[in-house]
Amino acid sequence: MGKRGVFFKGISDVEGKTSADRGATSREIIIEALENIPPMLSDETQKEAMKIIHYTVNNVKMGKVVDDKEVKRLIKNMVEEIIANQDAMLNLIKIKSHDEYTFSHSVNVCMIAILIGVRYQLPIDSLEELAFGAMLQDLGKIMVPDEILFKLGRLNEKELEEIKKHPLYSQQILSENSRIGELPKKIAYQHHERWHGQGYPQRISGENIELLARITAIADVYDALTTDRPYRKKFLPYDAVRLIVSRADDEFYADAVRAFVESVSIYPLGSLVKLNTEEVGMVIKINRKAIVRPTIRILFNPSGNIMEEPINIDLIKDRERFVICAIDEEEVYQMHTDQTGEE
Ligand SMILES: [Fe+2]
Repeated sequence: MGKRGVFFKGISDVEGKTSADRGATSREIIIEALENIPPMLSDETQKEAMKIIHYTVNNVKMGKVVDDKEVKRLIKNMVEEIIANQDAMLNLIKIKSHDEYTFSHSVNVCMIAILIGVRYQLPIDSLEELAFGAMLQDLGKIMVPDEILFKLGRLNEKELEEIKKHPLYSQQILSENSRIGELPKKIAYQHHERWHGQGYPQRISGENIELLARITAIADVYDALTTDRPYRKKFLPYDAVRLIVSRADDEFYADAVRAFVESVSIYPLGSLVKLNTEEVGMVIKINRKAIVRPTIRILFNPSGNIMEEPINIDLIKDRERFVICAIDEEEVYQMHTDQTGEE
């Protein structure tokens, strides 16, 4: 049992209706609550994005140039939808298999980068350049041998050197299409550079790194951290945001980190939190003026039972309650299975 799971302790002693009585599972309650939060990107556009990134990678593998028209058409839709739905849930694509990571990661990085760019008040044409570069930043990985790219164990120095060539490869692939501008190429080449100058491949620092690449770097790291990898478990969004914030002005450009936190928030929409009252709920609205006090839909009472009728609490108005930590939904499912024998 994880440390955060302790809040469900003693649930079997609680009398009265349990979730099992109601025939509902904690998973269903969470999914139901999630369905009430609109996504930032429509299902259709998300599927289209996955299709186009697959198509692009396959084309390049076969030696063709990147079809910039297809990518641009997609990106226009993505930018439009994200501008219209900034207060919606950042519906990142969850990978089904390790092989899918490159594809879903590209789409996710693109979404997050647009979101940061919008908050940063970039004009539309810059947003589209940003989205283009963010979507195709890792294209060069197709030139890294699979046995290195998909190696489960620790990479040796030589293998690491090989991986570190992918920004250069990405830039080279994009350069083969003369209609692709300088900015997406720079994003691809510089997305692993770091503000303090210890990134790669050039180890450039500060404002020598293109602004759009500085933004993409944050999006890239956030998606990587919040995804399960063969060598580590995923971070909670809260922990990933905290980590990035802790490295502002060091690894990451502080103004872009600020825009990132303002858009994603520290408790992103749809994430689960535990309150000081021992209640557990879902963040359903971010209060941008006080991101630590979002509006919460209480789903589980202090005993850990599913609320008969969930209530919404605006923590700006309710000063008795406050968030004490973020919780992984898997942990909530697990606790309920352990304690009530449901599912
Ligand atoms: Fe990369």
